Amino acid sequence: IRREGLERLAEANDSASLEAWRVAYLGRNAPVMQVFSRLGQAPKELRPQIGQSANAVKQALEAAYQEKLEAVRRAALEEELTRQKLDVTLPGRRPFLGRHHIETQTMREILRIFTSMGFQVYSSPDIETDEYNFTYLNIPPHHPARDMWDTFYLTTPGLLLRTHTSPGQIHAMRQFAPEPVRVVLPGMCYRYEQAGARKDIQFTQVELLAVGYDITFADLKGTLQDFADRIFGERLRTRLRPSYFPFTEPSAEMDVECVICHGKGCSVCKGSGWLEIMGCGMVHPVVLQHGGYDPAKFTGFAAGMGPGRIAMLRHAIQDIRSLYENDVRFLEQF
Ligand code: PHE
Repeated sequence: IRREGLERLAEANDSASLEAWRVAYLGRNAPVMQVFSRLGQAPKELRPQIGQSANAVKQALEAAYQEKLEAVRRAALEEELTRQKLDVTLPGRRPFLGRHHIETQTMREILRIFTSMGFQVYSSPDIETDEYNFTYLNIPPHHPARDMWDTFYLTTPGLLLRTHTSPGQIHAMRQFAPEPVRVVLPGMCYRYEQAGARKDIQFTQVELLAVGYDITFADLKGTLQDFADRIFGERLRTRLRPSYFPFTEPSAEMDVECVICHGKGCSVCKGSGWLEIMGCGMVHPVVLQHGGYDPAKFTGFAAGMGPGRIAMLRHAIQDIRSLYENDVRFLEQF
């Protein structure tokens, strides 16, 4: 019985045949079990001997069974593991990471440059009063210069969406006067006008304002030139062109050479090869007064630049409207 049992056991190699073996060799009707149940029929003096050897057979079979059971389980587990090919050392899947919009990135770089020069970041509201957006900036009601900015008016009389960040100049001056002030002021601006490759109805601006003693146009030019060198990496030439703004005198505009577009029929710089990126000038005495400064003692300079345009020049973006179309294929590039 023992030899046969062990031989059959060697042939059982999965849990089903193993279970069948257990029933056949250790179950209630197994031969060795029959020996026990029929022990009473054997002559009395032989019973201990028969019992002992039957017990030995049973224990041997049981031990062999347990061992085989373990072996079969281990083999099954091993097979399962190789089949699943689980490599715990593989790196996990990278979660999708968002990023800052290219205009935000550009804006932050602009702010970093000016804050490193000692300007502090200042913010003022998107919804402005007529006074702040125009009157205090030396553009009285019915002045023809109001036509320079096509305005979105709110249904509440006297309120509008700021057409530039310049009203922030007045807020900052009124907060700091009569102390000198140096602020850089980012924000969204709105203009009710025809959108095009270089201008949209909504865009960001960064305003710059310095008011103090003995501030001259040379300070303005030096500050802006240093800024241009840093934001464009001294690769691009700039020029200051005389211009007109009611709130600065004298006034100028800064153009940047449109190298990236040369010879490509670039819509951004048209034929000229230059793109205007900001207006600037010496703060008008009337504006200083509205801000709470005595124009006899104080002078100052101001500038208002477009991060969108700066981004266009740095990254060869052909149409400023792509900034707000939210096409991920465009945004993913930066
Ligand atoms: N606010 C002007 C504009 O939006 C730009 C500017 C700012 C010009 C400060 C001069 C000084 O066109």
